[in-house]
Amino acid sequence: MPDAPLHLIRPEVRAERAYRVPTEADAPAKLDQNESPFDVPKALKQAVAARFCASDWNRYPDDRPHRLIAALADRLGHPVEGIIVGRGSNEITHTLGLCFLGHGVPVVLPHPMFALYASVARMHGARIVSVDPESDFSHDPAAILAAAQESSAALIIVTTPNNPTGQVLSFEGIERLVAEAPGAVLVDEAYHEFVPGASAVDLLAQYPNLLVMRTFSKAMGLAGLRLGILLGDPALIQEIEKARLPFLVDRFSEAVALVLLERPELVTERVAVLTAERKRVRHALAEMDGIETLPGDANFFLMRTPLACSVLRERLAEQGVRIRDVSGYPALAATEEQPGWVRVSVGTPAENQAFLVAVQQVLSTAALHETAG
Ligand SMILES: Cc1ncc(COP(=O)(O)O)c(C=O)c1O
Repeated sequence: MPDAPLHLIRPEVRAERAYRVPTEADAPAKLDQNESPFDVPKALKQAVAARFCASDWNRYPDDRPHRLIAALADRLGHPVEGIIVGRGSNEITHTLGLCFLGHGVPVVLPHPMFALYASVARMHGARIVSVDPESDFSHDPAAILAAAQESSAALIIVTTPNNPTGQVLSFEGIERLVAEAPGAVLVDEAYHEFVPGASAVDLLAQYPNLLVMRTFSKAMGLAGLRLGILLGDPALIQEIEKARLPFLVDRFSEAVALVLLERPELVTERVAVLTAERKRVRHALAEMDGIETLPGDANFFLMRTPLACSVLRERLAEQGVRIRDVSGYPALAATEEQPGWVRVSVGTPAENQAFLVAVQQVLSTAALHETAG
């Protein structure tokens, strides 16, 4: 059989690595994907399933999920024409790449930041203008702005709270970015429910170059259904709509999201539990020798221990605890003096307890080996 014609695939695509998550869906403590550890309550699931069974599966869904868009418009105080609902914010990111990026187009990406953005930019051949973090890994709006102005960037992308650090950009910092950027600014607020107070959404009416992305995958607890949101100036959003495939959001996802939007207290209560748990877990880790954690505001945090990240990850996995090794981000990699960082999502109180027990055990076993050695 002849070889597959790999040379016909665009070199920018061939140069990428496929996004694979080394995880196990049924791990006893699954703390590696920043999901909500709380499922949709069973009674709600059954109610939606019954309604869904009564609908026609042989018919296409709406070209765009009009009822969900109307509900979001109502809740967010933003016009329906200025809202896109996509199949997860990952899908919307690809659409934005199609709309804004091309060969040599400058795009400003502070790092470390959710890796999909750089990957999409590279696949479009865009010119990535990378901005280094401060020594505490935070992102400085002035440095981002300087890089954007110097390169006449078409697009700046920031995430707040940022993944993988959990750090936030101040509201004033975001406003400055949007007000002074030479092009469009995308603010990814995937974890915004964990940060009370003003959000970039509050700036939309004032700045037509601002785009805000949100997701149902994190605090809303619907990662399994794939729903993301893009908000922006109606004229800009209507152009971006042209690059999207029709029918991307299925009837079932729309129905579930509508039901969840009617129950905001579910999300608020769960966010409160996760925030309290994040504080408890970080406090417990601070009591253990040799562990450092990074303060952050999302449903996850960064941690480093005396063990190499890959070793720590494997030893915890043997005990049923899944965490994410993020030392592949250059800023979070091991140095000659220090090991790299891992990212830990906040789970249910029971999962967090299992994590704390496992960390203690892994570190004391490692210390014993060291003493014996
Ligand atoms: C900052 C950020 N944006 C977007 C996403 C992806 O969200 P979605 O599930 O809506 O594709 C993630 C997921 O980890 C994320 O951390």
